[in-house]
Amino acid sequence: MTAVYEHDVLVIGSGAAGLTLALHLSADYRVALLSKAELNQGSTYWAQGGMAAVLHNRDTVDSHVADTLAAGAGLCHRDAVEFTVKNSRHCVEWLVSQGVDFDLRQSADQRGREFHLTREGGHSHRRIIHAADRTGRAISEVLSDRAMASDNITIYTHRTAVDLVVGDGRCQGAYILDQTTGHVELFQAKSVVLATGGASKVYLYTSNPDGASGDGIAMAWRAGCRVANLEFNQFHPTCLYHPEAKSFLVTEAIRGEGGRLLLPDGHRFMPDFDSRGELAPRDVVARAIDHEMKRLGADCLFLDISHQSKDFLRSHFPTIMERCAELGIDISQEPIPVVPAAHYTCGGILVDQHSRTDLSGLYAVGESSCTGLHGANRMASNSLLECIVYAESAANHIIENMHRIAAPSIAPAWDESQVTDSDEDVVISHNWDELRRFMWDYVGIVRTDKRLQRALHRVDLLQTEIADYYGNYKVSNDLLELRNLAMVAELMIRCAISRQESRGLHYTLDYPQSMPVARDTILQPGVSPP
Ligand code: FAD
Ligand code: SIN
Repeated sequence: MTAVYEHDVLVIGSGAAGLTLALHLSADYRVALLSKAELNQGSTYWAQGGMAAVLHNRDTVDSHVADTLAAGAGLCHRDAVEFTVKNSRHCVEWLVSQGVDFDLRQSADQRGREFHLTREGGHSHRRIIHAADRTGRAISEVLSDRAMASDNITIYTHRTAVDLVVGDGRCQGAYILDQTTGHVELFQAKSVVLATGGASKVYLYTSNPDGASGDGIAMAWRAGCRVANLEFNQFHPTCLYHPEAKSFLVTEAIRGEGGRLLLPDGHRFMPDFDSRGELAPRDVVARAIDHEMKRLGADCLFLDISHQSKDFLRSHFPTIMERCAELGIDISQEPIPVVPAAHYTCGGILVDQHSRTDLSGLYAVGESSCTGLHGANRMASNSLLECIVYAESAANHIIENMHRIAAPSIAPAWDESQVTDSDEDVVISHNWDELRRFMWDYVGIVRTDKRLQRALHRVDLLQTEIADYYGNYKVSNDLLELRNLAMVAELMIRCAISRQESRGLHYTLDYPQSMPVARDTILQPGVSPP
């Protein structure tokens, strides 16, 4: 018998987006908040640099909007950018009201309460509010504590959403794997929210934690929703290069505080590529590093912040300092070895300003969504902001419409009668490795038509094998993630193939120029791309 859970709202994902949304819902509603692992294990927890917001007295909404549009290479939707930026101060106030402690300026006593703002690439002002280099952790812990203390939110951890339930033309819930029992349960709800984060795990090298497997994007696609701009995979220019340093980011705020990128011979190369030097937008810096590494056959390049004092580094970058010290690198004395790694999924499930998807009753928020804010390249620290702004907007829409929605109809129970326990888990680990390697090699920072076609061929074969496995064996978290990663990889490749130009994060040797008019790449289930 399939266990059935009933709630008013089902929120799948407990990062900044899911937590914010759940906390904004009225205490009158019964909310289920799901996480694939522990509450604090999504990308949000690991965010370092901070959140962009117009807070400085010399900064303006117009300036933040203009910087975002410029970084987005002509593809941002101005209405989404203005909506997000105009709400930035309000979002900071909300986070502070929940208890998030952002760093204050040293001289705050004399000036009243004033936040310390740092700089990052593409921003023409000091605009990044932060909690040292642990901003995500500060946000995640405070919001998780609030959710745990809330009477109307029930938290379910180690639950993996498998697929959405659609009935009477609406999303009415989801099938959920309980990882501890291995059983699939039915969660029914009047409104369902995908807050499942990005898909950077599709690449071999990534700054993202395990679990960034694009589950929400794949589920929405299978349920008939359009997705957009998935060719724009952001590679963070500076992840620590060390055999023992898995997934460790070196925040862009280091460059904001004067960090310089160096070749192995000590030459500072960024000014040769862009007049903004180390603070050029991420696509420019990542491509420059990739170019120099390939030109020199180097395993890594270097980021030097040793001009700053030990005290300064200790107070602004304690996490990076500690992690590097564990690996024998004293960042106050020597440069940090760095390489680019997949970091952020700019595209996703197409949504409107209320975070509504194409499927009635289904919302998508945070990195799993495509709001139009990021265009062809997300500007640093605009992501946490987008999570908070759109989660509140979605919550408001859910609240306004709840009274119109009938209780979900009965959905079919999960059928396990035709499947057995897997006897060959090696199939999953092998396909997982193969997928992530060919995505890195063929759909990476620099692309060509030939590489993309090769990747498409590989992913087609993998999908056939995975579908066969899925049809015959009981589901597990690893199998579900692999199935979703392969699905999202296919969507990324198809988006990349259909963009016959270079723009923002999509750079192809076959079409090095941008087209005069910028267009979104929108894929629709059941419709072949042009
Ligand atoms: P996440 O925080 O990734 O949360 C996803 C949630 O969904 C998790 O709880 C996960 O368990 C759950 N989930 C996923 N699939 C399923 C499923 N099938 N079933 C159930 N649950 C599921 N952005 C900034 O703006 N500023 C920064 O300084 C910054 N630094 C970053 C540093 C690092 C190392 C990384 C990786 C990212 C950084 N980013 C930063 C990007 C930003 O952190 C993310 O884009 C943002 O936190 C995404 O939030 P989210 O709520 O959408 O998803
Ligand atoms: C960083 O701290 O460099 C990450 C910022 C971001 O991804 O927005």
